[in-house]
Formats: sequence, structure tokens, C-alpha cells
Amino acid sequence: MHPLEVSPAQFRTLANEITEIATQYLQALDSRPIAPPTTGKQSLDLFSSPWPEQPEGTQALAALTQIIEHTRAQNARFWGYVLGSAEPAGAASDLLASVLNQNVTAWRSSPAAVIIEKTVVGWLAQAISCPGFQGSLTGGGSSANLMGLAMARERKLAANASGLRNAAQPVVYASAEVHMSIPKALALLGIGRNNLRLIATDQDFRMLPDGLESAIKQDLASGNLPLAVVASAGTVNTGAIDPLTDIADIAQRFDLWMHVDGAYGALAAIAEPARFRGMERADSISLDPHKWLYQSLDCGCLLYRNRDPVRAAFSHTGDYAKSLSDDPIESFAFFDESMELSRRFRALRLWFSLRYHGLAAFRSAIEKDLRLARRLASSISSCPDLELMAPVSLSAVCFRYRPAPESKLDATNESLLKTINGRGRIYLSNATLHGQFCLRACLVNHRTRPADVDCVVDEVLQSARQLASSS
Ligand SMILES: Cc1ncc(COP(=O)(O)O)c(C=O)c1O
Repeated sequence: MHPLEVSPAQFRTLANEITEIATQYLQALDSRPIAPPTTGKQSLDLFSSPWPEQPEGTQALAALTQIIEHTRAQNARFWGYVLGSAEPAGAASDLLASVLNQNVTAWRSSPAAVIIEKTVVGWLAQAISCPGFQGSLTGGGSSANLMGLAMARERKLAANASGLRNAAQPVVYASAEVHMSIPKALALLGIGRNNLRLIATDQDFRMLPDGLESAIKQDLASGNLPLAVVASAGTVNTGAIDPLTDIADIAQRFDLWMHVDGAYGALAAIAEPARFRGMERADSISLDPHKWLYQSLDCGCLLYRNRDPVRAAFSHTGDYAKSLSDDPIESFAFFDESMELSRRFRALRLWFSLRYHGLAAFRSAIEKDLRLARRLASSISSCPDLELMAPVSLSAVCFRYRPAPESKLDATNESLLKTINGRGRIYLSNATLHGQFCLRACLVNHRTRPADVDCVVDEVLQSARQLASSS
């Protein structure tokens, strides 16, 4: 037997032991500090050892336990960034995806997996009230945004064959609150991030449609080529939803591709569809099951209204990959509709999790997050030492500690964030609004209960006292 071979009996033992380690992590979630008390040097010393020449065998399992001790615990009080809470039923099924090792690139390489991915993408489209949209799973919202804009570029510029040769400068529009993945996509697509026009927002951080329209007119007058508009369905800072219907009207009038960046918020349409009206008029939509559908990383999704633009942007079949079937199902290939060729069976975890729990459970978890965010905002508003910094549109709550003199508020809140996270009882991240540093809690966490958000004000004030006494 080759040393790399693992017998089915050994596999069972290993899988059981790894499951036990994962179970211990889950059992102790609430009691361990969210941010591990570890330094960069400690983690480097522990985890950067050389590749052993000789097998460590089951001794390597001890290292897995050690990883947990130096890992951020994502319990009910983790509200940093926009990070889903790793729903465990889906996570458990992920082992099978790795064992099956299906290359989800074409039906003929992975019949069940391709149909499952198409099915689960259809479920998502239907659930956010965009029936008929097709799509594929991606590594995340950033890749989905890049792909959406690649489709927009190809539709207007047909640059795939000969590159960007147009005389007019292509430009893309988005609100000033747009996620950093959009300028990055424009840089990668050769459009240039300076050709992203940042449109001003209203007091609720929503794009001003008049601003969009006049920017387009100005570009047309200057001989530029308006290419696409990116509407945010949940901005990363505050969860603001741009006026989607107004933006769709303008996109239609000026023949712009409309991409909705719904990586954070679009899945909230499962709970509150009316707030996302207009999203169904988009050409492409990104959304992230690894955010507000509580799935483990990584699982993003790109939806598109029509297959022609996606195939124009991504279909580059080599002879070695050519389908030998005329059957529309059997000749289907994701590599014709996405950036990747080899693709992992991401859909298995999502499909299993969504079936295991059912749609109603996810709807109610999203409703719960929306409700708890409002509850948190109201407890912040009623505390004289705290200030709510933005309306709570979805589940992001931006606030700051405010007794310090105005000039030091940013520095104080920055130090306060480090103190809060260092104490390990809750975990927040930050946002900058109107140039001011804010603390930010983003609830996309199926574990969070009312009691968890009710401890935030007290924990922030205690952290502020600790900070004051240490300085
Ligand atoms: C609005 C928005 N768009 C895009 C992204 C990027 O998504 P990902 O981190 O999955 O690449 C994020 C991430 O937080 C986001 O909030």
C-alpha cells in the first residue's frame, strides 16, 4: 500500500476525530474569548514549522486542536465585518464535497453536482424575488462583482478579442459608499479605477439619482462612454439600499448595464422583498451566501438575467474541453459562464444546509437579525454616552462613544475598538462615515439572541472605563 493511501477504516477514525475536535469547538463557543489572546509572533512560531519529511500521522491531529486555541471564535456576539456564522449542518456536509472531489466545470465531469449548483442558484434567485435569473457560485462577492462588470465591459466594448481599443473612455457609476471590490474590478478590467464616478448620497447614504443622471450627461458631453451603474443593495458601512427602481430607469434610458452589488444585503430580500423592488430589473446581481445566509466561507453567487452576455464574456473553449454532446443538459459547462475552469463542489454545502433547515428557518433568522439590529440601535440611542451614526437600514449598526472632546473622538473610538475586541466578550469592526471613525456591529449571525445585543452598551461603557483607567 502506498504511504499516501488511507484505508476506509483509517478514514473513519480520522473523520471521527476531526468531527470531535469541531464539536468541542462548537460546545465551547460561548465560553471562549472571541479574539484569541495571541500575538503575531506566537502564531508564527506555532504554525510556520517546516514541512516534516517523515509522517506525523495522527500526531498532526494535535495541531488541529492548537489551531482552535489561536482562532477567532465566531459565537453569538461576533459582529465584525460582514461575516456569516458558519451554519454547522452545511459545514458537516462539506467533508463529503472534498471526498467526492467533483470538478464542477461541466455536466459530463460532474453530472449531479452541476445540476445541484444550477438548482441552488435558482432557489436563491427565486427567494430574492428575481425568478428566471441564472448564475453560478463564486468565491465571494468580489469575484461576482468582477464578473458582473466583465459582462458589462464585453457587452459595450467587445474587448475580449482585441483588448480595449475604443476611443471613448468607458466610465462606471456607483455611490460614494460603494464597496472597494468595485474600483478593484475596474482596475483589473483595464477600465481604471479613476473612471469610477462616485455619486453623492443622501443623508441615509443612498445614491442620489439626480447625481447619477447629471454625471452620465456630463460624461456624454465630454465624449466618454457610460458603461454601467453599480447599485448597492446594502452598502458595506451602513446597509443602505440605493433607490433601485430609479437607478434601473436611468440605466434603461442611457443604455447602461445595471449591476446590483447585493453581497451584503440582497439576501435580506428573502425577509423584506418590498425594500428591494427594482433589483429584478438588474442585468447582474452579486450576493453572498457566506454572509447573510450563514454559510461557511467561501460561497458567493453571481446572477444574470440573460446567458448571452455571460457567454460572450467567459466562453473560451479549448478543443480539449469541447463537449461531444448536443443534449442541452449534457453539453452544459460552467467554464463557459464563469472565470474558473476547475471548480469545487461549493453547492453541496449550500444545498444541504438549505434543505436541512428549509427556507422558513432562513427567513426567520434574517428577520431576527433585522429586528435585533433595531433593538441594538435603540439601546444605543438611549445611552447618553453613545451616539448612533447612521440610520439602521438592514443589520449594520454604526455608533461611537461620545463623552470625549470632539477633537479626540476618532482616536478615542479607535482605541476603544481595540479594547472592546481585546476583552473578547463581543467583537465589532469599524466604519468611517462623514470622515468620522465609528464602531460598527453587523448582525449576520444566526446564533445572536436578544440577550447578546442587550449586553453591548454595558460592554462598550466598561471598555471605555478600562481604556480611561489605563491611559
Ligand atoms: C457590499 C459588499 N460588496 C462586496 C463585498 C465583497 O464580498 P467578498 O468579501 O465575499 O468578496 C462585501 C464584503 O463585505 C460587501 O459588503
